[in-house]
Amino acid sequence: MRDVALVTGAGSGIGLEIVRALFRRGVRVLGVALGQSELDDLAREARESGAQLDTLAIDLTQAGAVEQVLSHAAAGGLQVRTLVNCAGIGLYGEHLSLDDAAVARMVALNIGALTELSTKLARSMVARGHGQILNVASTAAFQPLPRLCAYSATKHYVAAFTLGLAEELRGTGVSVSLLCPGTTNTPFIQSAGIASGTRTNRLAQRLSMTPEDVAQAAMSALDGPRGFVVAGRLNRAHYALSRLLPPRALMRAFERVTRATS
Ligand SMILES: NC(=O)c1ccc[n+]([C@@H]2O[C@H](COP(=O)([O-])OP(=O)(O)OC[C@H]3O[C@@H](n4cnc5c(N)ncnc54)[C@H](OP(=O)(O)O)[C@@H]3O)[C@@H](O)[C@H]2O)c1
Repeated sequence: MRDVALVTGAGSGIGLEIVRALFRRGVRVLGVALGQSELDDLAREARESGAQLDTLAIDLTQAGAVEQVLSHAAAGGLQVRTLVNCAGIGLYGEHLSLDDAAVARMVALNIGALTELSTKLARSMVARGHGQILNVASTAAFQPLPRLCAYSATKHYVAAFTLGLAEELRGTGVSVSLLCPGTTNTPFIQSAGIASGTRTNRLAQRLSMTPEDVAQAAMSALDGPRGFVVAGRLNRAHYALSRLLPPRALMRAFERVTRATS
């Protein structure tokens, strides 16, 4: 069996940059994403740079998808030594106006697939006595966010699940880490429904980090010893404020900013 880092969301944005950062470390990657064409581009890039890459295009919101990923890895003789759960989607807007099926898909991806992959792979990592899991949450995990209620709730789940699991697995040889990026310059903002041209979109772009910088923070989270990394100085200040102020204060501030800039 060959060791591999399984990265979900490998086709775009932060996940893609995490794959590139792992390539630079000489790590073999199994990249998982929704679309085949993004993975084909990544495979071309890997061939040109001599990096080792396996890919799987799959919709992780579908029942049985995680089992298919694990079977694909096993069939290719790959043993997952590192898991990076980065695939995630957002939905911006008044909650009652959102499409119910889209909300269910977001929950299935951000919570369901991440939990199932973490659980199943953690079991085999603990049995081997080593392994790494990195789950990507968001600064949206620091307080509830109006107009991002359900998205923010999924990221609260990711944070609570990851930090709790990290504590349970302390001393097993398996490290479990949490990465919280803030707004990052990827297709995510547009796909979440924050339309370009709106002031909210411009504000998000202005505050954005690059996905390359977030991927560096992901590498620090993997390298430890801290199992909890907030990417970027501004986001760390946001985290500190969220510990000091009552959640309602930040929530109201966010509500006012997004109402004024939509
Ligand atoms: N960008 C931000 O402002 C921001 C801020 C905080 C946290 N985050 C978090 O960071 C993570 C990565 O976001 P990003 O900004 O890199 O977004 P992105 O550029 O839109 O990338 C999302 C990735 O997830 C994959 N994906 C989407 N739906 C999927 C599905 N049903 N099954 C399998 N894969 C699926 C996409 O596949 P394709 O490549 O095939 O489309 C893509 O590779 C997410 O968890 C997000 O919540 C992002």
